[in-house]
Amino acid sequence: MSKILDVRSYTEEVLRAAQALRDPAAQEVVRDAEAKIAEAAAVVRAGGIVAFPTETVYGLGADAFSEPALKKIYAAKGRPSDNPSIVHIARASDLGLLAREYTPGVVKLADAFWPGPLTIIVEKRAEVPAAVSGRLSTVGVRLPDDPVALALIRMAGTPVAAPSANLSGRPSPTRAADVIADLDGKADVILAGADSRIGIESTVVDMTATPPQILRPGYLSAADLAAGLDAEVVLDPALLAETGEPKGDGSPFGSLTPRSPGMKYRHYAPKAEMVVLEGDRDRVEREALRLKALNERIGRRVGVLLFEASDFTGAAHDFYARLRDLDASGVDLILAGALPQENDLGFSVMNRMMKAAGYHVIRV
Ligand code: TXA
Ligand code: MG
Repeated sequence: MSKILDVRSYTEEVLRAAQALRDPAAQEVVRDAEAKIAEAAAVVRAGGIVAFPTETVYGLGADAFSEPALKKIYAAKGRPSDNPSIVHIARASDLGLLAREYTPGVVKLADAFWPGPLTIIVEKRAEVPAAVSGRLSTVGVRLPDDPVALALIRMAGTPVAAPSANLSGRPSPTRAADVIADLDGKADVILAGADSRIGIESTVVDMTATPPQILRPGYLSAADLAAGLDAEVVLDPALLAETGEPKGDGSPFGSLTPRSPGMKYRHYAPKAEMVVLEGDRDRVEREALRLKALNERIGRRVGVLLFEASDFTGAAHDFYARLRDLDASGVDLILAGALPQENDLGFSVMNRMMKAAGYHVIRV
Protein backbone atom coordinates (compact mmCIF):
# COMPACT_ATOMS: atom_id res chain seq x y z
CA MET A 1 0.00 0.00 0.00
CA SER A 2 1.23 3.42 -0.89
CA LYS A 3 0.39 6.39 1.27
CA ILE A 4 -2.19 8.35 -0.74
CA LEU A 5 -2.47 12.03 0.19
CA ASP A 6 -5.28 14.14 -1.24
CA VAL A 7 -3.95 17.53 -2.35
CA ARG A 8 -6.72 18.46 -4.79
CA SER A 9 -7.48 21.64 -2.88
CA TYR A 10 -3.94 23.01 -3.37
CA THR A 11 -4.71 25.15 -6.39
CA GLU A 12 -3.45 28.50 -7.63
CA GLU A 13 -6.80 30.07 -6.73
CA VAL A 14 -6.65 28.92 -3.11
CA LEU A 15 -3.01 30.03 -2.87
CA ARG A 16 -4.00 33.48 -4.09
CA ALA A 17 -6.92 33.63 -1.67
CA ALA A 18 -4.67 32.55 1.19
CA GLN A 19 -2.24 35.36 0.44
CA ALA A 20 -4.93 37.96 0.80
CA LEU A 21 -5.52 39.09 4.36
CA ARG A 22 -8.52 37.76 6.26
CA ASP A 23 -9.18 34.55 4.38
CA PRO A 24 -8.53 32.10 7.22
CA ALA A 25 -10.46 29.33 5.45
CA ALA A 26 -8.10 29.43 2.47
CA GLN A 27 -5.11 29.68 4.78
CA GLU A 28 -6.27 26.59 6.62
CA VAL A 29 -6.67 24.68 3.33
CA VAL A 30 -3.16 25.71 2.27
CA ARG A 31 -1.63 24.73 5.64
CA ASP A 32 -3.33 21.36 5.51
CA ALA A 33 -2.17 20.61 1.94
CA GLU A 34 1.34 21.90 2.59
CA ALA A 35 1.66 19.56 5.56
CA LYS A 36 0.91 16.65 3.22
CA ILE A 37 3.29 17.91 0.54
CA ALA A 38 5.98 18.35 3.23
CA GLU A 39 5.46 14.73 4.24
CA ALA A 40 5.98 13.65 0.62
CA ALA A 41 9.05 15.92 0.33
CA ALA A 42 10.57 14.26 3.40
CA VAL A 43 10.10 10.91 1.67
CA VAL A 44 11.97 12.26 -1.39
CA ARG A 45 14.79 13.52 0.84
CA ALA A 46 14.98 10.12 2.54
CA GLY A 47 15.43 8.34 -0.81
CA GLY A 48 11.82 7.30 -1.37
CA ILE A 49 9.68 7.65 -4.49
CA VAL A 50 6.65 9.94 -4.76
CA ALA A 51 4.03 10.28 -7.50
CA PHE A 52 2.86 13.86 -8.02
CA PRO A 53 0.69 15.87 -10.41
CA THR A 54 2.08 18.17 -13.07
CA GLU A 55 0.28 20.20 -15.75
CA THR A 56 1.29 17.67 -18.45
CA VAL A 57 0.93 14.21 -16.87
CA TYR A 58 1.64 12.80 -13.40
CA GLY A 59 5.29 12.06 -12.59
CA LEU A 60 6.98 9.49 -10.35
CA GLY A 61 9.75 11.39 -8.62
CA ALA A 62 12.90 10.86 -6.60
CA ASP A 63 15.94 12.86 -5.50
CA ALA A 64 17.79 13.37 -8.79
CA PHE A 65 21.15 12.96 -7.03
CA SER A 66 20.31 9.64 -5.35
CA GLU A 67 21.26 6.68 -7.50
CA PRO A 68 19.44 4.12 -5.25
CA ALA A 69 16.23 6.21 -5.27
CA LEU A 70 16.36 6.42 -9.06
CA LYS A 71 16.73 2.65 -9.26
CA LYS A 72 13.52 2.35 -7.23
CA ILE A 73 11.68 4.39 -9.88
CA TYR A 74 12.91 2.17 -12.69
CA ALA A 75 11.96 -0.96 -10.72
CA ALA A 76 8.49 0.39 -9.85
CA LYS A 77 7.73 1.29 -13.47
CA GLY A 78 9.45 -1.71 -15.03
CA ARG A 79 11.31 0.86 -17.14
CA PRO A 80 14.44 0.02 -19.17
CA SER A 81 17.41 1.64 -17.42
CA ASP A 82 18.79 3.18 -20.63
CA ASN A 83 15.77 5.47 -20.88
CA PRO A 84 16.75 8.75 -19.22
CA SER A 85 14.47 10.66 -16.86
CA ILE A 86 13.58 14.33 -16.90
CA VAL A 87 14.75 16.34 -13.92
CA HIS A 88 12.28 18.83 -12.44
CA ILE A 89 13.31 22.05 -10.73
CA ALA A 90 11.26 24.69 -8.89
CA ARG A 91 13.26 27.77 -9.92
CA ALA A 92 15.08 28.44 -13.16
CA SER A 93 18.35 29.26 -11.39
CA ASP A 94 18.56 25.62 -10.24
CA LEU A 95 19.38 24.69 -13.85
CA GLY A 96 22.98 25.40 -12.81
CA LEU A 97 22.87 22.43 -10.40
CA LEU A 98 22.36 20.11 -13.37
CA ALA A 99 23.83 21.75 -16.46
CA ARG A 100 27.57 21.91 -17.08
CA GLU A 101 26.98 24.84 -19.38
CA TYR A 102 24.13 26.42 -21.23
CA THR A 103 23.77 28.77 -24.12
CA PRO A 104 21.91 32.10 -24.30
CA GLY A 105 19.29 30.18 -26.29
CA VAL A 106 18.57 28.02 -23.24
CA VAL A 107 18.05 31.16 -21.17
CA LYS A 108 15.68 32.55 -23.80
CA LEU A 109 13.60 29.38 -23.84
CA ALA A 110 13.49 29.17 -20.06
CA ASP A 111 12.42 32.83 -19.87
CA ALA A 112 9.73 32.31 -22.47
CA PHE A 113 8.27 28.95 -21.46
CA TRP A 114 9.12 28.12 -17.83
CA PRO A 115 7.22 27.26 -15.79
CA GLY A 116 5.58 25.13 -18.46
CA PRO A 117 5.49 22.03 -20.65
CA LEU A 118 9.03 22.31 -22.01
CA THR A 119 11.97 19.99 -21.26
CA ILE A 120 15.34 21.44 -22.25
CA ILE A 121 18.24 19.08 -22.96
CA VAL A 122 21.62 20.48 -21.89
CA GLU A 123 25.11 19.08 -21.26
CA LYS A 124 25.04 17.62 -17.76
CA ARG A 125 27.34 18.19 -14.83
CA ALA A 126 29.42 15.21 -13.69
CA GLU A 127 27.42 15.08 -10.43
CA VAL A 128 24.22 14.06 -12.27
CA PRO A 129 24.08 10.29 -11.82
CA ALA A 130 24.10 7.94 -14.78
CA ALA A 131 20.78 6.56 -13.58
CA VAL A 132 19.19 9.90 -14.59
CA SER A 133 20.77 10.27 -17.98
CA GLY A 134 21.24 6.72 -19.18
CA ARG A 135 24.53 6.68 -21.04
CA LEU A 136 24.07 10.19 -22.38
CA SER A 137 26.26 13.18 -21.58
CA THR A 138 23.14 15.32 -21.38
CA VAL A 139 20.22 15.87 -19.02
CA GLY A 140 16.64 17.01 -19.69
CA VAL A 141 15.40 19.69 -17.31
CA ARG A 142 11.89 21.06 -16.76
CA LEU A 143 10.30 23.66 -14.49
CA PRO A 144 6.68 22.48 -14.28
CA ASP A 145 3.65 24.75 -13.93
CA ASP A 146 1.72 23.07 -11.17
CA PRO A 147 1.44 24.30 -7.58
CA VAL A 148 1.73 20.83 -6.01
CA ALA A 149 4.75 19.89 -8.15
CA LEU A 150 6.49 23.19 -7.39
CA ALA A 151 5.84 22.95 -3.65
CA LEU A 152 7.08 19.36 -3.59
CA ILE A 153 10.34 20.17 -5.39
CA ARG A 154 10.90 23.29 -3.30
CA MET A 155 10.31 21.45 -0.02
CA ALA A 156 12.43 18.47 -1.11
CA GLY A 157 15.30 20.93 -1.51
CA THR A 158 16.72 18.97 -4.43
CA PRO A 159 15.92 18.59 -8.12
CA VAL A 160 13.40 15.78 -8.62
CA ALA A 161 13.94 13.27 -11.41
CA ALA A 162 10.60 11.99 -12.64
CA PRO A 163 9.40 9.95 -15.58
CA SER A 164 5.67 9.72 -16.12
CA ALA A 165 3.91 7.85 -13.28
CA ASN A 166 2.66 4.89 -15.32
CA LEU A 167 3.87 1.32 -15.58
CA SER A 168 6.31 1.23 -18.49
CA GLY A 169 4.49 0.90 -21.80
CA ARG A 170 1.06 1.91 -20.43
CA PRO A 171 -0.76 5.16 -21.24
CA SER A 172 0.58 8.08 -19.21
CA PRO A 173 -1.55 8.98 -16.18
CA THR A 174 -3.44 12.26 -16.24
CA ARG A 175 -5.68 11.51 -13.24
CA ALA A 176 -4.83 10.49 -9.67
CA ALA A 177 -6.93 7.33 -10.09
CA ASP A 178 -4.75 6.24 -13.05
CA VAL A 179 -1.60 6.63 -10.94
CA ILE A 180 -3.18 4.62 -8.12
CA ALA A 181 -4.18 1.89 -10.59
CA ASP A 182 -0.57 1.52 -11.80
CA LEU A 183 1.55 2.33 -8.76
CA ASP A 184 -0.36 1.64 -5.54
CA GLY A 185 1.99 -0.49 -3.48
CA LYS A 186 4.96 0.56 -5.61
CA ALA A 187 5.30 4.29 -4.89
CA ASP A 188 5.96 5.27 -1.26
CA VAL A 189 3.57 8.23 -1.53
CA ILE A 190 1.01 9.24 -4.13
CA LEU A 191 0.03 12.92 -4.09
CA ALA A 192 -3.49 12.79 -5.50
CA GLY A 193 -4.20 16.16 -7.11
CA ALA A 194 -6.42 17.42 -9.89
CA ASP A 195 -6.49 16.06 -13.45
CA SER A 196 -3.52 17.22 -15.55
CA ARG A 197 -4.44 20.41 -17.37
CA ILE A 198 -2.63 19.59 -20.65
CA GLY A 199 -2.80 15.81 -20.79
CA ILE A 200 0.22 14.97 -22.98
CA GLU A 201 3.88 15.11 -21.98
CA SER A 202 6.18 18.08 -22.34
CA THR A 203 7.91 19.03 -25.57
CA VAL A 204 11.54 17.83 -25.37
CA VAL A 205 14.03 20.11 -27.15
CA ASP A 206 17.72 19.33 -27.54
CA MET A 207 19.60 22.60 -27.07
CA THR A 208 22.96 20.88 -27.56
CA ALA A 209 22.07 20.43 -31.26
CA THR A 210 22.48 23.13 -33.92
CA PRO A 211 19.85 24.10 -34.87
CA PRO A 212 17.91 23.04 -31.75
CA GLN A 213 15.97 19.86 -32.34
CA ILE A 214 12.62 18.71 -30.97
CA LEU A 215 13.04 15.10 -29.83
CA ARG A 216 9.48 14.66 -28.54
CA PRO A 217 6.59 16.81 -29.76
CA GLY A 218 4.27 18.16 -27.08
CA TYR A 219 1.94 20.99 -26.27
CA LEU A 220 4.51 23.58 -27.41
CA SER A 221 5.27 23.38 -31.13
CA ALA A 222 8.45 23.98 -33.13
CA ALA A 223 6.91 27.30 -34.22
CA ASP A 224 6.27 28.29 -30.56
CA LEU A 225 9.88 27.53 -29.65
CA ALA A 226 11.24 29.27 -32.75
CA ALA A 227 9.25 32.37 -31.81
CA GLY A 228 10.59 32.25 -28.22
CA LEU A 229 14.15 31.71 -29.42
CA ASP A 230 13.94 33.97 -32.43
CA ALA A 231 15.83 31.26 -34.33
CA GLU A 232 15.15 28.08 -36.25
CA VAL A 233 14.00 24.94 -34.42
CA VAL A 234 13.72 21.64 -36.29
CA LEU A 235 12.06 18.30 -35.62
CA ASP A 236 14.14 15.15 -35.09
CA PRO A 237 13.76 13.57 -38.56
CA ALA A 238 12.85 10.28 -36.87
CA LEU A 239 9.60 11.92 -35.69
CA LEU A 240 8.48 12.49 -39.26
CA ALA A 241 9.42 8.96 -40.24
CA GLU A 242 7.31 7.66 -37.36
CA THR A 243 4.04 8.96 -38.61
CA GLY A 244 4.67 7.87 -42.19
CA GLU A 245 4.36 4.42 -43.76
CA PRO A 246 5.78 1.62 -41.65
CA LYS A 247 8.95 0.28 -43.25
CA GLY A 248 9.30 -3.34 -44.39
CA ASP A 249 10.47 -4.70 -41.05
CA GLY A 250 7.37 -3.36 -39.34
CA SER A 251 9.46 -0.64 -37.70
CA PRO A 252 8.34 2.85 -38.63
CA PHE A 253 11.85 4.22 -38.37
CA GLY A 254 13.71 2.38 -41.10
CA SER A 255 17.30 3.52 -40.70
CA LEU A 256 16.37 6.50 -38.53
CA THR A 257 16.84 5.93 -34.83
CA PRO A 258 15.02 8.41 -32.61
CA ARG A 259 17.43 10.45 -30.50
CA SER A 260 15.14 10.54 -27.51
CA PRO A 261 15.73 7.00 -26.21
CA GLY A 262 12.22 6.74 -24.82
CA MET A 263 10.73 7.16 -28.27
CA LYS A 264 11.90 3.78 -29.50
CA TYR A 265 9.85 1.63 -27.13
CA ARG A 266 6.26 0.50 -27.63
CA HIS A 267 4.57 3.09 -25.60
CA TYR A 268 1.35 4.48 -24.21
CA ALA A 269 -0.37 1.25 -25.18
CA PRO A 270 -3.80 0.18 -24.03
CA LYS A 271 -4.36 -3.51 -23.28
CA ALA A 272 -6.79 -3.74 -26.18
CA GLU A 273 -5.66 -4.05 -29.77
CA MET A 274 -5.75 -0.60 -31.34
CA VAL A 275 -6.15 0.52 -34.94
CA VAL A 276 -5.94 4.07 -36.27
CA LEU A 277 -8.38 5.02 -39.03
CA GLU A 278 -7.03 7.80 -41.19
CA GLY A 279 -8.85 9.80 -43.84
CA ASP A 280 -11.73 12.15 -44.40
CA ARG A 281 -13.62 12.56 -41.14
CA ASP A 282 -17.03 11.38 -42.39
CA ARG A 283 -15.48 8.33 -43.98
CA VAL A 284 -13.54 7.57 -40.78
CA GLU A 285 -16.76 7.73 -38.77
CA ARG A 286 -18.63 5.47 -41.18
CA GLU A 287 -15.74 3.00 -41.35
CA ALA A 288 -15.44 2.94 -37.55
CA LEU A 289 -19.12 2.06 -37.23
CA ARG A 290 -18.88 -0.57 -39.97
CA LEU A 291 -15.81 -2.23 -38.43
CA LYS A 292 -17.39 -2.05 -35.00
CA ALA A 293 -20.49 -3.87 -36.19
CA LEU A 294 -18.40 -6.47 -38.07
CA ASN A 295 -16.24 -7.20 -35.06
CA GLU A 296 -19.17 -7.31 -32.67
CA ARG A 297 -20.77 -9.93 -34.87
CA ILE A 298 -17.83 -12.22 -34.11
CA GLY A 299 -18.11 -11.50 -30.40
CA ARG A 300 -15.41 -8.85 -29.98
CA ARG A 301 -16.06 -5.83 -27.80
CA VAL A 302 -15.15 -2.67 -29.65
CA GLY A 303 -14.50 0.87 -28.44
CA VAL A 304 -14.45 3.87 -30.76
CA LEU A 305 -12.19 6.83 -30.01
CA LEU A 306 -13.14 9.94 -31.97
CA PHE A 307 -12.38 13.51 -31.00
CA GLU A 308 -14.27 16.70 -31.83
CA ALA A 309 -13.18 17.88 -35.28
CA SER A 310 -11.03 20.88 -34.38
CA ASP A 311 -10.73 20.65 -30.61
CA PHE A 312 -7.04 19.74 -30.41
CA THR A 313 -6.58 20.88 -26.80
CA GLY A 314 -9.55 18.70 -25.86
CA ALA A 315 -8.03 15.73 -27.69
CA ALA A 316 -4.66 16.23 -25.93
CA HIS A 317 -6.41 16.61 -22.58
CA ASP A 318 -8.54 13.48 -22.98
CA PHE A 319 -6.35 11.12 -25.03
CA TYR A 320 -4.68 9.05 -22.30
CA ALA A 321 -7.74 9.15 -20.05
CA ARG A 322 -9.93 7.80 -22.87
CA LEU A 323 -7.48 4.96 -23.56
CA ARG A 324 -7.52 4.00 -19.90
CA ASP A 325 -11.31 4.23 -19.68
CA LEU A 326 -11.70 2.05 -22.77
CA ASP A 327 -9.34 -0.52 -21.25
CA ALA A 328 -11.29 -0.44 -17.99
CA SER A 329 -14.51 -1.06 -19.93
CA GLY A 330 -12.98 -4.31 -21.16
CA VAL A 331 -12.95 -3.74 -24.92
CA ASP A 332 -10.83 -6.02 -27.13
CA LEU A 333 -10.39 -3.54 -29.94
CA ILE A 334 -10.11 0.26 -30.08
CA LEU A 335 -10.82 2.01 -33.37
CA ALA A 336 -9.30 5.50 -33.19
CA GLY A 337 -9.87 8.34 -35.63
CA ALA A 338 -6.63 10.06 -36.68
CA LEU A 339 -6.28 13.80 -36.08
CA PRO A 340 -5.02 16.10 -38.85
CA GLN A 341 -1.26 16.39 -38.41
CA GLU A 342 -1.01 19.75 -40.17
CA ASN A 343 -2.13 21.06 -36.81
CA ASP A 344 0.85 21.11 -34.41
CA LEU A 345 -1.07 19.77 -31.45
CA GLY A 346 -2.75 17.24 -33.74
CA PHE A 347 0.77 16.12 -34.73
CA SER A 348 1.75 15.71 -31.07
CA VAL A 349 -1.34 13.68 -30.19
CA MET A 350 -0.85 11.55 -33.33
CA ASN A 351 2.73 10.82 -32.23
CA ARG A 352 1.22 9.11 -29.15
CA MET A 353 -1.73 7.58 -30.97
CA MET A 354 0.49 5.88 -33.56
CA LYS A 355 2.71 4.41 -30.85
CA ALA A 356 -0.28 3.27 -28.81
CA ALA A 357 -1.59 1.49 -31.90
CA GLY A 358 1.81 -0.04 -32.67
CA TYR A 359 1.64 1.88 -36.01
CA HIS A 360 -1.37 -0.12 -37.13
CA VAL A 361 -3.16 2.23 -39.54
CA ILE A 362 -6.01 1.75 -41.98
CA ARG A 363 -6.45 4.44 -44.62
CA VAL A 364 -10.12 4.88 -45.44
O1 TXA B 1 5.68 16.13 -19.26
C1 TXA B 1 6.63 15.41 -18.99
O2 TXA B 1 7.71 15.53 -19.57
C2 TXA B 1 6.44 14.33 -17.92
C3 TXA B 1 6.20 15.04 -16.58
C4 TXA B 1 6.17 14.08 -15.44
O3 TXA B 1 7.18 16.02 -16.41
N1 TXA B 1 7.56 13.46 -17.86
C5 TXA B 1 7.80 12.53 -18.82
O4 TXA B 1 8.90 11.74 -18.57
O5 TXA B 1 7.12 12.39 -19.80
P1 TXA B 1 9.20 10.40 -19.35
O6 TXA B 1 10.39 9.85 -18.66
O7 TXA B 1 8.02 9.55 -19.42
O8 TXA B 1 9.67 10.85 -20.76
C6 TXA B 1 10.92 11.51 -20.91
C7 TXA B 1 11.32 11.53 -22.36
C8 TXA B 1 11.75 10.16 -22.81
O9 TXA B 1 11.34 9.97 -24.15
C9 TXA B 1 13.26 10.25 -22.69
O10 TXA B 1 13.92 9.35 -23.53
C10 TXA B 1 13.51 11.69 -23.07
O11 TXA B 1 12.44 12.40 -22.52
N2 TXA B 1 14.75 12.20 -22.47
C11 TXA B 1 15.01 12.43 -21.18
N3 TXA B 1 16.28 12.86 -21.01
C12 TXA B 1 16.84 12.90 -22.25
C13 TXA B 1 18.14 13.25 -22.76
N4 TXA B 1 19.11 13.65 -21.94
N5 TXA B 1 18.33 13.16 -24.09
C14 TXA B 1 17.35 12.76 -24.92
N6 TXA B 1 16.09 12.43 -24.50
C15 TXA B 1 15.85 12.48 -23.19
MG1 MG C 1 6.59 8.23 -20.06
